[in-house]
Amino acid sequence: MADAELDIRTRGRTAPGRLRALDAYLCHFESALLTRQDDAWARAAFVDVGFGEHPWTTLESAAAFRALNPELIVVGVELDAERAGAAARTHADARTHFREGGFTLPLSPDEPARVVRAMNLLRQGPLERIPEVHRTLSRSLLPSGLLVEGSSDTDGAVLVAHLLRRVSEDAPPLRESLLFHTNFSRGFAPLLLRDWLPRDLRRRVRPGEPVHAFFQAWESAWKAARAAGHTSPPDAFAESIPRLAAMTPGVATDAWLLTHGCLRWSPPGGIPP
Ligand SMILES: C[S@@+](CC[C@H](N)C(=O)[O-])C[C@H]1O[C@@H](n2cnc3c(N)ncnc32)[C@H](O)[C@@H]1O
Repeated sequence: MADAELDIRTRGRTAPGRLRALDAYLCHFESALLTRQDDAWARAAFVDVGFGEHPWTTLESAAAFRALNPELIVVGVELDAERAGAAARTHADARTHFREGGFTLPLSPDEPARVVRAMNLLRQGPLERIPEVHRTLSRSLLPSGLLVEGSSDTDGAVLVAHLLRRVSEDAPPLRESLLFHTNFSRGFAPLLLRDWLPRDLRRRVRPGEPVHAFFQAWESAWKAARAAGHTSPPDAFAESIPRLAAMTPGVATDAWLLTHGCLRWSPPGGIPP
C-alpha cells in the first residue's frame, strides 16, 4: 500500500503549552541529540508532524530546543494545506519551515532529522498499520535519532508517548520507552494515564498483556505509597515509582523524572507491540 494511504485527515485542535512537558523532558534527557553538530547532524532538523490549526507547539519547541542549539532547523509538517500555508506565511524564517505533507515527511535527502514528533495524530485508521506509520515517520532520522509518538489531553495535563529510537538504516525503530507525564491538575491515579496511552497500546490493557501487568503493578505501588501516608497526588506519584521499580524491570527512578511528574518505562527488549 502507498505511503500516502497511511495519512488520514483529522481535526486540528491544539493549545499553547500542550507539549511543554515533553519539551522539558527532551531538553533534559536528549540534550546531546538536540545539540549534536558533527557531519550530517549540523543539518539535522526537529520535525513536528501534524502541528494543528496553529503552530503553537512547534514554535514553543523551537524556542525550548534553540536555548540549547541556537542554529537548530525546525520543520512543521501538516496534512492540511491551508494550515501549512498560513503557518508558513506568518511564522517561517531562515531556520523555521512549515510544509504541507504527511507521514512520508516532505524532507529532501539532504535534510535529515534528529527528532520527529507526532503527537495527537494517530486517532483513526487501522491499528495494524501503526508499525508501518512508525517506520515511515522514522525514515529521515539519523541513526540514534528519536521518534516521539503519543497522545495527551487537550491542555497537556496528562500525556503518554512512545520514544522510538532509530538504530540502523534497515531496522524498524526500536520501541525504547514509554514516557508518562501528568501535572497533577486532575489529581493522580495510575489509571488516569492508561486513558492516554498511545493508540496501539490502548486495547492492550487486558489480562495476559505486559501493559496490563505494568498498570496492575503501578496501581499496587501507588496504593502502598498512599497507605504509607503519601496521599497528595505529587507525593503519591513520586513514592509509587521506586516501589514500582522494585517489581517491574526498566522503570527509571531518576529524581528529575519524579519531581516533574514523569515516569519512563524502558523494559528489556523494548515496549511490547
Ligand atoms: C489534533 S491536531 C494535533 C496538533 C498538535 N500536534 C498537538 O498535539 O496539539 C492533529 C493535526 O495533525 C494533522 N495530521 C493528521 N494526520 C497527519 C499526517 N498523516 N501527516 C501530517 N499531519 C497530519 C491534522 O491535519 C491536524 O491538524
